[in-house]
Formats: sequence, structure tokens, C-alpha cells
Amino acid sequence: MNLTLKIWRQKDSNAKGQMVDYKVTDISEHMSFLEMMDVLNEGLVAKGEEPVAFDHDCREGICGMCSLQINGEPHGPDRGITTCQLHMRMFNDGDTIVIEPWRAAAFPVIKDLIVDRTAFERIQQAGGYISVNTSGNTQDANAIPISKEAADKAMDAATCIGCGACVAACKNASAMLFTSAKVSQFALLPQGRVEATERVMNMVKQMDLEGFGNCTNTGACEVECPKGISLENIARMNREYLAASVAKS
Ligand code: SF4
Ligand code: FES
Repeated sequence: MNLTLKIWRQKDSNAKGQMVDYKVTDISEHMSFLEMMDVLNEGLVAKGEEPVAFDHDCREGICGMCSLQINGEPHGPDRGITTCQLHMRMFNDGDTIVIEPWRAAAFPVIKDLIVDRTAFERIQQAGGYISVNTSGNTQDANAIPISKEAADKAMDAATCIGCGACVAACKNASAMLFTSAKVSQFALLPQGRVEATERVMNMVKQMDLEGFGNCTNTGACEVECPKGISLENIARMNREYLAASVAKS
């Protein structure tokens, strides 16, 4: 395939960015999207030009680093996948593909297609953990019975990879799907109930401090989430927050 790429180039976080056109040729439909980007960059380096900076690590849908907005959609036109799992067979010869970084005030651009997602780290640090004495006398996890339904829902919530596609998909740049997944994975388990009140209050407070918008139930986040995190988690977080607010008052 021969393709035209319209790519956001931005020297650093203070520079003014712009879309720049590139041509790539002889792209195999079996390549991943990131391999196609590698071909582009190899050509730019060979010509002595600055390669396009983009985030990636595992290239197998685990780390959540490959944050690209492709033709207006986080992670591109396929469903239930990250950009590194997107194949070029989803595109046609002669296509023009628009590639941008995540667009959200809380995710400032660092360079080209790389954004700063440390806001997610700070939300996690505000309560995304349980405090356990690991001095050698910890209770065996299997000693506490947990229903199959609760275990399954907690596991589903725990599959969130912190990619930020939910924020990029939301017209309000809301981080509710991410935060609610991190709250839910503990709220559903007895080990997580001990600090549940503080956790939801602190994580929601940090989410607001970071400048993410609110949820208006359009559901774009759920559609674009590569891990199928359900809106049900946002409803659960809202219930947790209400109960915590009453308990604190
Ligand atoms: S909820 Fe989904 S889209 Fe949002 S950060 Fe987690 S895995 Fe990514
Ligand atoms: S590079 Fe790790 S999920 Fe895509």
C-alpha cells in the first residue's frame, strides 16, 4: 500500500505544533500500525530528518503506552485493541491517515505524538492500592471467600492498562472510566473495603485537581476502551463516592 500520513509535529511542550504530510510506500497489510511508523522513521533518519516521536513499549497490548489518535479515534478504527495491535489491513491503498496525540489539557504534549500521562500516576498514588502488612504473617488470600461474580468483576476492572483512550475519546476529557476501574477493582473485594471510603474520596479529588472533565454519560470511553472496561464501573464509583460522602459528613 502507498499512503499519505498527516502527522502532528511539535518540537516540545512550549512549541506551536502543526500537521505535516508524509508519504510511505510499499506498506504490507500484515504490518502493525507501529511497524508502519517505524518504516516512516527509518526513511526520515536515512534522509537526515528528525524522526516522529511516538510512545510504545510492549507492542502486545499490555503496557498502554501506544497512545495515538488515528483518523479521530483513539487507537484507530478497530475495536478492543491498542495501536500496537492495529493492523494495516484496516486501511486501503491510497488512504490518507491523520495521526495526532491524545487531545486533553491534563495530558500535555511532550513532543510530536507523545503526551504526559503522569496525571494518571498521581490519581493512582492517591488511593489505587491496599495497605497490607507484608512482614511474613500475612493472611493467605484464599482464606477469605469471595463470590465468583465479585471476583470476575474485580478482575475485569483490573484489566485497565491506563492507556488514556477513554480521556481522548471523551468530549469532556473525563478520566471517570479509568478512575472508576481503579476504584472498582478494590471496592468489589473484602481486602479493598478496609480503605474504601478514603480511597474513593482521594482518587476523585486528585482526578478533579488534574483538570479532567466530568462524565456526561455519552459512553464514547467504553466504545474506545481497548480492554472493554464497562460504564458499570462509573456507576459503582458514583455510589462509592456518595456513600463515602455521607460517612464523612
Ligand atoms: S479504562 Fe480503558 S481506555 Fe481508559 S485507561 Fe483503562 S484501558 Fe485505557
Ligand atoms: S505498546 Fe504496549 S500496549 Fe501498545
